[in-house]
Amino acid sequence: MTAVQTGIGNVGTIKPRRMAFDMSQLREKYFFRGNPILSTLMYALSASFPDGERFFIDSVRHYQKDIKDPVLLEQIRGFIGQEAHHARIHEDFNDRAQVLGMAMDKVQRRLKGRLDTGRRKLNPSQQLAVTAALEHITATLAQWTLENPEPGDDDNRQSPLREMLIWHAMEEIEHKAVAFDVYKTAVGNEKQRIAVARFIFRMFWIQMAISQLMLLWCDRKLPSLKDIREAWAFMWGERGFRRWAAPEFSKYLRPGFHPSDIDQSKLIERWHLNYPEVAALQVG
Ligand SMILES: [Fe+2]
Ligand SMILES: [Fe+2]
Repeated sequence: MTAVQTGIGNVGTIKPRRMAFDMSQLREKYFFRGNPILSTLMYALSASFPDGERFFIDSVRHYQKDIKDPVLLEQIRGFIGQEAHHARIHEDFNDRAQVLGMAMDKVQRRLKGRLDTGRRKLNPSQQLAVTAALEHITATLAQWTLENPEPGDDDNRQSPLREMLIWHAMEEIEHKAVAFDVYKTAVGNEKQRIAVARFIFRMFWIQMAISQLMLLWCDRKLPSLKDIREAWAFMWGERGFRRWAAPEFSKYLRPGFHPSDIDQSKLIERWHLNYPEVAALQVG
């Protein structure tokens, strides 16, 4: 267990938790409110995790030898443990979605191709800047997930994703500053950090949309007008995710920003009390 001292307000631990989710609960292809746009958004996110998280691990591991601070070194170990486990769990979920008929293999193959291009064309410091920017996106997604959890009613029992996302979100907040602190210590180029993030924040939604279109196209599924309206409200409505997230993403672009400037500690301090049904799935 590792103490996290990220400066302002975030004190906790980076501790990989072994979880046992029942993937057979996923029985409906369009499990998320029965909406194909929202369901494929969840599939697109899940498809991006296994190879994305392996990219994160490799980009941080490259600089591990340059880090002397024992606290940060311990945090790196916690970060790697958590991300490796996230990747494995999302792989299981993606396999289950594939069995149901979603073209997860095609989407994952394309995303892996994009990441492999990144590995070839970007130098290690740029790859770490990509990771730090994507970690800000995941921490932002995590905050929204924990502040707006889907109700744990019978409808949501059709999928283990609600529990998976709550657990994943909590660990993303725990380790949100690790890649950033490694970048700050080993690279430190603020201009590059911001330029890379500006590009990544734009590309992220484009990549998600391409994955969604691929999944819908392969399933020959045309969303209804009602589906489109509901998805629009989810993203851009008064409490819509993207409307809320846009200024949260922008905070990262400010020179001198640090992830601990955004205090999310309240969301994870008592997670096992707030989500006992998720804590019950911990097996180690
Ligand atoms: Fe993760
Ligand atoms: Fe992460």
